[in-house]
Parts: sequence; C-alpha cells; structure tokens
Amino acid sequence: MSRTWLVTGGLGFIGSNFIRLVLKERADVRILNFDAMTYAGNPANLADVSSDPRYRFFKGDICDAKAVDEALAEPVETIVNFAAESHVDRSILDPEAFLRTDILGTHVLLEAVRRKNITRFLQVSTDEVYGHVPEGHSKETDPLAPRSPYSASKAGGDLQVLAYGSTYKSPVLITRGSNTYGPYQYPEKLIPLFVTNLLEDKPVPLYGDGLQVRDWIHVEDHARGILHILEHGHEMNVYNLGGGNPRTNLEITGLLLAQCGRAFDTHVRRVADRPGHDRRYSIDCGKAAALGWVPRRDFAAALNETVGWYRNNGQWWRPIKSGAFADYFKIQYAELLR
Ligand code: DAU
Repeated sequence: MSRTWLVTGGLGFIGSNFIRLVLKERADVRILNFDAMTYAGNPANLADVSSDPRYRFFKGDICDAKAVDEALAEPVETIVNFAAESHVDRSILDPEAFLRTDILGTHVLLEAVRRKNITRFLQVSTDEVYGHVPEGHSKETDPLAPRSPYSASKAGGDLQVLAYGSTYKSPVLITRGSNTYGPYQYPEKLIPLFVTNLLEDKPVPLYGDGLQVRDWIHVEDHARGILHILEHGHEMNVYNLGGGNPRTNLEITGLLLAQCGRAFDTHVRRVADRPGHDRRYSIDCGKAAALGWVPRRDFAAALNETVGWYRNNGQWWRPIKSGAFADYFKIQYAELLR
C-alpha cells in the first residue's frame, strides 16, 4: 500500500533535497509537491525526479485555502510544510510577504489538517526563533525571542502549530534547523552567494565585523533529520536539528576564498552590518539525538563538495543570477558596495 505525503515548498532548497531523499529511500511513499513557484521555487531543483511516477507537482500558494483543498482531493496521510519566505535581508526590505506566507499560510494548512484526515503535520522551522544566543545552547523549551521580521514570522507560525495541537489535538510536530548549505541553494544566502561571486571573480559583501556565529548543517543531514523526526518524533514536540559546526562568517569566508583561489584583500568588501543582526545562534540537539538522529557529514569535506557542485553547475545558478536575482542584488547591495 502506498502512502501520499503532501510536501509544501518542495521546489525550494531544503524541500527539494527532502523530496529527492524520500523518493530514493521510501519506496512506498508518493510525493505531492505543492509549491507557489515564487522566486526561490525552481523546477530545475527537481528536474532529475520530475518523471518519477511517485512524484506529482501541484502549483499553489499555501495562503490559498481553495488550492490547498484541491490538492488534498486525493487522500493524503502527512503534510510537511517547507513553504516559507526565508531570507532575513528580504524580510527587512519587505516584511509583509513573510507574515503572509509564514503565519497565514501555516494557519491555512492547519485548518486543512483539521478538515481532512491528516495524521501527521510537520512544520519546518528555524533556530532563529530563539533569537541571539550570547552563550550556551538553545533548548526546545527556551522562550522564543525572534529579532527579525523573518524569525518573528516563523515564531508566529510555530506558535500557531502548537496552539492547534493543544486546542484541536492536531497531530503536529516542529523541527528547528540551523544554517543549511549544499546544492540547489538560492544564491542570496551567504555560502552560495559568496561561492558564485568568487567563481565569477566578483567581490563578496561581508556584513559588519564578520564575527557573527552560525552553526552549519549540510542539507542532506537536515533533510534526513526532518524525515527521522517525521517518522519517530512525538506529537506536540519540537526538535532542534543542528550541524554541530559553529563558524564565524569570517572563517567561512576564509575557507571559501581558499577553495576558489581568491585573496581576502581583492575579493572581500566589508560593508555596513545587517540591521538587528543576531550575533550567534547555537542549539542543543540532544532531544533529536535521543531519538536516534545525528548529522553525518564532515564539515570540511561537505563544504568542499558544495563548492565543487557550484563550480560544476553554472547552468543552474548563472540564469538565476542574471535573471530576477540581479534586481534584488541591486536593491540589497548596490549602496553597500559603492
Ligand atoms: O539559522 C537558520 C536560518 O539560516 C534559516 O532559518 C534562514 O532561512 C536562512 O536564511 C539562514 O539565516 P541567516 O540570516 O543566518 O543566513 P544568511 O545566509 O543570510 O547569512 C548567514 C550569515 O552571513 C549572517 O550572519 C549574515 C552574513 N552575511 C550574509 C549575506 C547574505 C553576510 O555577511 N553577507 C551577506 O551578503
């Protein structure tokens, strides 16, 4: 008997890597990919599985209850919600889109879970909801203290999810992942932006003093973590998924410069800091580990492999960077880089 999982935002970075993993490793699962095809939803991310008979695509926005209902016309067992506006800098430029998708969209899906016979709903969230963590590691029970429009919207989504679990006994779970890197990441984020700029022989914009700390997880580890929690997690629980690789942005920049054969003096531009920039994120992942999940990828090797992927897949990122991304780049960076 096959089971159908509705994956929202499956044309994005983590969602597409999750779908590829599930199709490869869960032979009895059919995937219905529900994606609005916003700027970051790219069909090329799943070109290799698009003709798989266990994969189907449905174009739709999670804020559109009618479209969600249409997609759920066939029996669906599980919903995994990856659909989100996810880039902090864009949330500073235009917060409204974040409130809409990350809070209202989550609410629309939760209503669908109530109406239909959905037996599992997993919300993919972020370690940014804990806010800046000066020392120690955030636990799932820590208070939420988001500091950007993006993280505040994700926190709003998380609170809706838990409220539906308490009020309506909806079968909900949440994962909170750390900074993710790997193939098919939209080149607005630190690692793909810096790698592709360096490959193009362009400078990279380092915000502030570059001493902010992020914990890096390879996308395959993150996707495996979400699958593991989906299959083994307990309802109404939150699980942190971190890579265990804390690095300053300056360290990441140094590694990428070395791998791309560029020098700091010629290729790094120190620019004004991001407003409200969180200095450090760090999560305690003991709860997911107790369920049997630990990240597997070695950071140095996986980062090297990631740089190699961008080097060899210019046909994937060059059209993005010369298309709609170019307008965003101008708005976000022209003044900073001047
Ligand atoms: O922690 C998980 C989060 O990681 C996810 O929930 C978000 O969706 C994802 O965007 C990411 O958020 P960050 O803001 O940490 O990622 P970003 O790649 O934008 O930036 C990483 C660090 O690099 C951050 O300290 C800001 C810095 N940075 C970023 C860019 C784009 C720069 O110095 N220059 C840049 O041009």
